[in-house]
Amino acid sequence: MTVTRIWPSRPPGIAYGGDFNPEQWPEETLDEDLRLMAEAGVSFVSLAIFSWALLEPEPGRYEFAWLDRVIDAMAGAGIAVDLATATASPPPWWSRAHPDSLPVLADGTTLWWGSRQAFCPSSPDYRRSATALAAALAEHYRNHPALSMWHVHNEYGCHNAACYCDTSAASFRVWLRSRYDDLDRLNHAWGTTFWSQRYGEWDEILPPRSTGTWRNPGQQLDWARFCSDELLACYRAEREVLRRVTPDVPVTTNFMSLFEPLDYRAWAAEVDVVSNDHYVRLDMVDPADDLSLAGDLMRSLAGGPWWLMEHSTSAVNWQPLNRAKAPGEMIRNSLTHVARGADAIGFFQWRASRAGAEKYHSGMVPHAGTDTKVWREVVQLGAHLRALAEVAGSSVDAEVALAWTWPAWWGAELGAHPSVHLDAAGHLRAWHAALRRRAVTADVVSPLDGLAPYRLVVAPHLYLLTDEEAAALTAYVEGGGTLLATFFSGIVDERDHIRLGGYPGALRDLLGVRMEEFFPLLPGETVGLSDGRTGRIWSELGRTEGAEVRATFASGPVAGSPALTRHAVGAGHAWYLATRLDGADLDALVGDLVARCGVRRTAEVAEGVEVVRRRGPDGTWLFAINHTAEEQAVAASGLELLTGRPVDGRVTVAPGAVAVVRERGGG
Ligand code: GAL
Repeated sequence: MTVTRIWPSRPPGIAYGGDFNPEQWPEETLDEDLRLMAEAGVSFVSLAIFSWALLEPEPGRYEFAWLDRVIDAMAGAGIAVDLATATASPPPWWSRAHPDSLPVLADGTTLWWGSRQAFCPSSPDYRRSATALAAALAEHYRNHPALSMWHVHNEYGCHNAACYCDTSAASFRVWLRSRYDDLDRLNHAWGTTFWSQRYGEWDEILPPRSTGTWRNPGQQLDWARFCSDELLACYRAEREVLRRVTPDVPVTTNFMSLFEPLDYRAWAAEVDVVSNDHYVRLDMVDPADDLSLAGDLMRSLAGGPWWLMEHSTSAVNWQPLNRAKAPGEMIRNSLTHVARGADAIGFFQWRASRAGAEKYHSGMVPHAGTDTKVWREVVQLGAHLRALAEVAGSSVDAEVALAWTWPAWWGAELGAHPSVHLDAAGHLRAWHAALRRRAVTADVVSPLDGLAPYRLVVAPHLYLLTDEEAAALTAYVEGGGTLLATFFSGIVDERDHIRLGGYPGALRDLLGVRMEEFFPLLPGETVGLSDGRTGRIWSELGRTEGAEVRATFASGPVAGSPALTRHAVGAGHAWYLATRLDGADLDALVGDLVARCGVRRTAEVAEGVEVVRRRGPDGTWLFAINHTAEEQAVAASGLELLTGRPVDGRVTVAPGAVAVVRERGGG
């Protein structure tokens, strides 16, 4: 039987909605929900995310009646359903029946039920129960017209990214056997001759549980790989069940932005739609920077448009202090995601809860009702997204790439390193923010993703590099590209073994430098460079071998050593930056690099105005986001879609507002 679904393929226009938990409310609330969803222009809801306890109240007995009623109502209203498999939170009966499946911390502490995600990713019982529930849902709803996407689980690894129990230990050994085949190879990879760690039998190997001092770095690195793979196996097991029953329904699971435990590049290859959750936090230096980086990362992982599955209309409830969003902030956040390639905007959650751990988290329908700032903005955003329907499916212009891999991140964060102040993700953020300030959009890619289209590639702390990745960076430069690598890149191979002969090991020949010793700086300590800039965090001693010196360290123990170099290789150039630059110094270097590489700014804009261009087969759209408190003008001609007004030469953007111009003649 062929089913006519509400979305036969992808959503028409930008999808709008969020997590819908009607089970938290009396039945009669549904009528009001439907009326309000129509008013806001909601086109999708994610259903049943935390409904395992209701769907399977006792082992093997499934109850769908309550959900049937909701899904039928959604179909009647023309609202597409992103149906969850409900496996993120096993009910208490399940945990009580499977005490060996509770997650265990590195120090042996058991995490009990009474919250959510209380399961061990390696538990065969969990895998069996979760796939059985997914299968029951798929069978029951396979022909439902509202079923438009599968939402597997929810935020894998949010609270149980690693479990150190005996079951996990056994799974880790299976994983290690398939990676190394024999123990000698593992012993060599982990460098176990050091500190008498040699393993004589597989059963001696444990997860990196709490120890007296440093744990083996090779073991920790493989553990990080294993933990990501193990949760991915949970996802795949559910996805296979769903694909068998409903092969026409796309499958997703929501990511968590720049989340260290999961290698989302591997995960992205396994989902039909990349979807992401992003929350701004009060401790972010600039939340808009973080949001933009998350968007660029998701677009790069997806290789095109992606879904913003969750963010908040206003306050969250999980920080020490949770402040409501300022007027306009939620719309600005939402449209920035769209600017960076999102084809859907979703929220956690439709109605702010009255009870439970998240009752102080904002929703689309706030506690105070609809005569509120939040509701008016929710309705306004719905109208904006309808006005932007034509943007859906388009790509985003990016001439620069930031090279970033999870294994390099994991490696950089291992302990017993020269300095605890490197902060690889912070370094990535700093470069992304400097490019963004320059009105330059960047993709976030692996060296193996195909670098040739980019005019400039920046590798911030690409600490761990495989031979293949190093060769890809070299081929990119030889072919005419420009690469800038920062210190502590290319230092180790995939086993976390130092690449000998001088730093930065794998990139030494490409960069034309040979470094000998590290001289990290104290917090607040700086070192002057010969070009007047100021280095922070790091300095190092060494010399060039073929590169041209653009700046040296001017003083201190490494005075005279190269700080910024440029090496002509083939048709391109490889730059090396041996310290960290911030603020105006970093901005000036970024300005110099992009100018040399012919990277075009998206538009000439004042500080605090973010501009991004989406491009479709028939045209381009310029998004201008005004983060300042003054009205700003941006050069553009065409039709401003949010107001429906033609613009000729320039568009004015009110303080805190966004303009989207369908450009005449392309950007
Ligand atoms: C997400 C999660 C949601 C909700 C939200 C609150 O991490 O997927 O279920 O907890 O955070 O911000």
